[in-house]
Amino acid sequence: MEKSLKPPLEREVRPLSSGGGQARSGASAITGAGSIGCAGSKGLAVMVEALHKTYSTGGKEVQALRGVSLGIGKGEVFGLLGPNGAGKTTLVKILATLLRASGGRAEVGGYDVGREADKVRRIIGYAGQDSERSAYFRLTVRENLLYFAHALRDVPVSSARERIERISSSIGFEDRLDKHFISLSGGEKQLVVVMRAIIHEPEVCFLDEPSKSLDPLTARRVRDFLKSYAREKGMTICLTTHNMREAEEFCDRIGFINHGQLRFTGTPADFKRSVTVKEVLEISSPMLDGAVEERLRSIPGVSNSASSESTVRLYCDDASKVLNEVLAVLNDFGIKAHLSMIEPSLEDAFAVFVGNDAGG
Ligand SMILES: Nc1ncnc2c1ncn2[C@@H]1O[C@H](COP(=O)(O)OP(=O)(O)OP(=O)(O)O)[C@@H](O)[C@H]1O
Ligand SMILES: [Mg+2]
Repeated sequence: MEKSLKPPLEREVRPLSSGGGQARSGASAITGAGSIGCAGSKGLAVMVEALHKTYSTGGKEVQALRGVSLGIGKGEVFGLLGPNGAGKTTLVKILATLLRASGGRAEVGGYDVGREADKVRRIIGYAGQDSERSAYFRLTVRENLLYFAHALRDVPVSSARERIERISSSIGFEDRLDKHFISLSGGEKQLVVVMRAIIHEPEVCFLDEPSKSLDPLTARRVRDFLKSYAREKGMTICLTTHNMREAEEFCDRIGFINHGQLRFTGTPADFKRSVTVKEVLEISSPMLDGAVEERLRSIPGVSNSASSESTVRLYCDDASKVLNEVLAVLNDFGIKAHLSMIEPSLEDAFAVFVGNDAGG
């Protein structure tokens, strides 16, 4: 294996170097942990306080983060949810020291991400949204992982080899270890990037959409493995996801971010409860369109709606009170539809949060 190869990423999380005399400041310096959404400030692996990020491109400014404060406890699996462009990747990149914040501050493992970036890099793992460019194309998976673990992270070769075997067999990847990275499918590349992020057993691991491109069974196997691995190693995981099932099954707590602001932190169950919606009326018909949905949403008692292909979901406090009006609207449009009452899901809570923030 050639150690002299240049990392394929411009912003590779740089190699370890030992030492670093300065004591960690400790997230315990932050008071009022309750206000940043975590039980005790001493147990914080990640602390974010009034974080701002403004991008300036082509004379235009985009405020990607607008005063985000957050605490993630040690050993917690924390999921960041939010619509496209909400600011999730920006937040994760700042915490992983790949971007500089424009204001506010953040600590990872007690180290300041701006002033002590080198120390933060030593204790974290990171898997970015772009898995294509995250490993050497011409090396095999095994060679890549060995390179990242041993050459970049100082893991002894024998331990690195053992970890590669263990992690890959836990996620059913052992039969592809000797394939070249370039020859892998998109999902397989994604798995390599996730393995790479944990191979050196980091204290805190940032995973930006780890299940992207994974089939549902593989995604579940990876989640199950990561959860037990994190428990065993005391590792904290901060991930972003658009997969509501992943959020519900994997995360101890979630944060919902929109327009660069954190709107909610709590358990997935709290998230569902936090939306005032009690009932969801689902209307299914191939004849539904935007005009019908608009009329349905304007019915008194309907607080919001969401649509996908041939269904419209109406969110309301009492579905029985809006039923007659719904039938009248469908009749006006000459639509025969199937109606059912369903339990609000995490996806419904997501839709209501986004709807409430519209234009925000
Ligand atoms: N390099 C950049 N230059 C200018 N604007 C940027 C840059 N990167 C991100 N943005 C903008 O910042 C905002 C937040 O982007 P970010 O990538 O953090 O969103 P996200 O929540 O991760 O979205 P997604 O779910 O699509 O991955 C968006 O409006 C985006 O267009
Ligand atoms: Mg993103």
